Amino acid sequence: METLEGMKRTHHCGELRQTEVGQEVVVCGWVSRRRDHGGLIFVDLRDRSGFVQIVYDEAAMNAGTFHKAESLRSEFVIGVRGKVRARSADTVNPKMDTGTIEIVCNELRILNKAKTPPFYIQDNLDVDEMLRLKYRFLDLRRPEMQRNIILRHRVTKIMRDYFDRNGFLEIETPMLCKSTPEGARDFLVPSRLNPGLFYALPQSPQIYKQILMVAGFEKYFQIVRCFRDEDLRADRQPEFTQLDIEMSFIDQETILTMMEGMMTELFDKAIGAKIPGPFLRMTWDDAMERFGSDKPDLRFGMELMDISAYMKGSEFKVFESVLENGGQVKVINVEDYANIPRRELDGLVEYVKGYGAKGLAWIQYTEEGIKSPFKKFYSDETFEQIKTACHAKTGDLLLVIADKPLVVAQSLGALRLEMGRRRHLIDPDKLCFLWVVDFPMFEYSEEEKRWKAMHHPFTAPRDEDIQYLKTDPGRVKANAYDMVLNGVEIGGGSLRIYNSDLQEQVFEAVGLTPEVAHAKFGFMMDAFQFGTPPHGGLAFGLDRLVMLMAKRDSIRDVIAFPKTQSASDVMAHAPSEVEDKQLKELSIRTVTAAKKK
Ligand code: AMO
Ligand code: AMP
Repeated sequence: METLEGMKRTHHCGELRQTEVGQEVVVCGWVSRRRDHGGLIFVDLRDRSGFVQIVYDEAAMNAGTFHKAESLRSEFVIGVRGKVRARSADTVNPKMDTGTIEIVCNELRILNKAKTPPFYIQDNLDVDEMLRLKYRFLDLRRPEMQRNIILRHRVTKIMRDYFDRNGFLEIETPMLCKSTPEGARDFLVPSRLNPGLFYALPQSPQIYKQILMVAGFEKYFQIVRCFRDEDLRADRQPEFTQLDIEMSFIDQETILTMMEGMMTELFDKAIGAKIPGPFLRMTWDDAMERFGSDKPDLRFGMELMDISAYMKGSEFKVFESVLENGGQVKVINVEDYANIPRRELDGLVEYVKGYGAKGLAWIQYTEEGIKSPFKKFYSDETFEQIKTACHAKTGDLLLVIADKPLVVAQSLGALRLEMGRRRHLIDPDKLCFLWVVDFPMFEYSEEEKRWKAMHHPFTAPRDEDIQYLKTDPGRVKANAYDMVLNGVEIGGGSLRIYNSDLQEQVFEAVGLTPEVAHAKFGFMMDAFQFGTPPHGGLAFGLDRLVMLMAKRDSIRDVIAFPKTQSASDVMAHAPSEVEDKQLKELSIRTVTAAKKK
C-alpha cells in the first residue's frame, strides 16, 4: 500500500467547480464507481463533501499509473493528483454538483484496498436493515446517511448557540444515578465497591435539573443521553438524546415562547424552513375530542365528530348499549370515498380492532342512496341530518365507531391517520407545530389498579384543581405541555411543584406512602426545604426532531449507532456475556449461568 507522503489534499471532491478549471489539485476519498471504456477509465471519487469524476487516459499518461487505475475496485481508498478541466457540453452531468468538470489524473496512490461491500454504497438502498446495521460503517458512508448525521450536528450547534445567547448554562448531570420508581423501567449498573447495590442510568436528568434550580443556576440546558428499558418502536430507542431545559422564576407562557423562538431559529438555520409563529395552542381535551390523539397531526382535517345525539333511542342494540353505558358514537368523514371496495372495509374492521374497538360501521352516501349496516334502524331523515351535521356530501364515506370515549379516541384517531395516508391527504412538506396544553395530572392504570402521573410526579397541578387531589384525581389538570410536530410528540414538560407539602400530596395520590417517598426521593424533598424557586422546563427528543427535519420514518436513520428492535447492537454484538471473573467482582450470579451448570 502507498502513503500520502508528499501529497497534501488541496480540495474536497464535492466542492470543485468551473472556477478551479486549469488548476492542479489533490483529492482523496473512496472509489464509488469505476467505468472502463478501453483506453479510458472513469472513476467517481467520493468523500464527505460529495463526488467528482476522475479520468484516466491511457494515451495521455504513464503506463504504470493507467495500469494501477485498472486495478481499482469499489471502496478502495485513493489519493489523486490531477488537473481540473471543463467537460465538453455533451458530457456535462447535471445530476452531479461537480458535473461540469473532471480531474485528469497524473498521479494515483492506492492508500487501501477494500473487500467487496455487501450492499451498494448509494441512496435509496433497498436491503434489510439488519445488514445495514451490521455493516453500519458502510451504511453511514452513503450520502443520505452522511447528510442526516451532518444535519444532527448542525441542529445541536444551533441549539447551543441559541441557549448560550439567551443566558442558559450547559451543565452535566450524572450517568450513574439512583433508581427511582415511576416512569419506565431502569437500566441498572452494579456497584463493585458496594456489593449488592446498583446505580440506575438516568431516564432523564429530571431530578438533577430541578436541584440545579434549588442551587441557583436559574437557566439550565443540556444535550444529554437518556436511558429507558422500554419496548422499542420506530421512534423509540433504549438510549436516546434529549435537549433538556429548566428555568426558574418563570411562567408557562415564558417557557413556551422561549421554545418557539428556538424552533423557529432552528428550522430556519438548519433546513431553511420558515415557521410562522406563534404556535397553535390546543387543550388536551380538545385534541382528544377532535383528533382522538394527544399528538394530533394537523397536516390534514378529517376531524372526529360526535353523532351520539342522532343515534340515541333506536332498536340498534350495538349503539344503544354503548350510549346507555356512558359511551359515544363518533365518525370521521373520508371525502369522496363512498365507493370504497367492500374488501377494504372488511380490512378496516380488523384494523380498528387492533386499537381496542369492538367493531366498525359506516354510512356511504352514494348516488344510488345510503348504504349502512344500521340503515334499517334509522329514518332517512336521520341520515340526512347526520350528513348535514358532518358537512358530508354525496360521494362521501363516514366511518363510525361506538365505544367508551377513550376507546373511540384511540381507534378512530388511528383510523383517521390511516385514512389520511391511504387517501394521500398528508403533505410531506408541511410543518404543523402546536402545543398541547392542560394535560390531565393523572391517568388510571387498569393494570396496576392505581392512578399514575401522566407526565411525572414533580409536575404541578393547576392551582384551582389542587382541592380534588384526594377526592377526584381524574379531574385534576396539570400545568403540563407537549410540543407536537406532524403528529409526533417532539417535546414535553411542565411547571414543577416547589413546595414539599404539595409534593407529598401528589406522591400520595399515585400511591407512594410517605415512607416510600422518603426512601426514594428524600434527597430531593430535603433539598426543597432550603429555598426552592418556582421553576419549570421541558425536554425535546433530539432524535425525533432530527428525524422529522430529515424527513425519515425512523429515528435509527439519524443515530450513528442505534439499537435494533431487540435492543441489540448487531455490529459490536452488545449486549454480550461477560467473564465469570467480572461477575464475581460485582458479587453477581446470573440465573442463566446457574441453569447452564
Ligand atoms: P419525556 O419523558 O416526555 O419528558 O421525554 C421528553 C421527550 O423525549 C423523547 N423521548 C424519546 N425519544 C426516543 N426514544 C425514547 N425512548 C424516548 N422517550 C422519550 C420524546 C419526548 O417528548 N424529564 C421530562 C421532561 C421535563 O418534564 O422537563 C421528560 O423526560 O420526544
Ligand atoms: P354485531 O351485532 O356485532 O354483528 O354488529 C352489527 C354491526 O354493527 C357490525 O356489522 C358493525 O357494522 C356495527 N358495529 C358493531 N360494533 C360496533 C362498534 N363498536 N362501533 C361501531 N359499529 C359497530
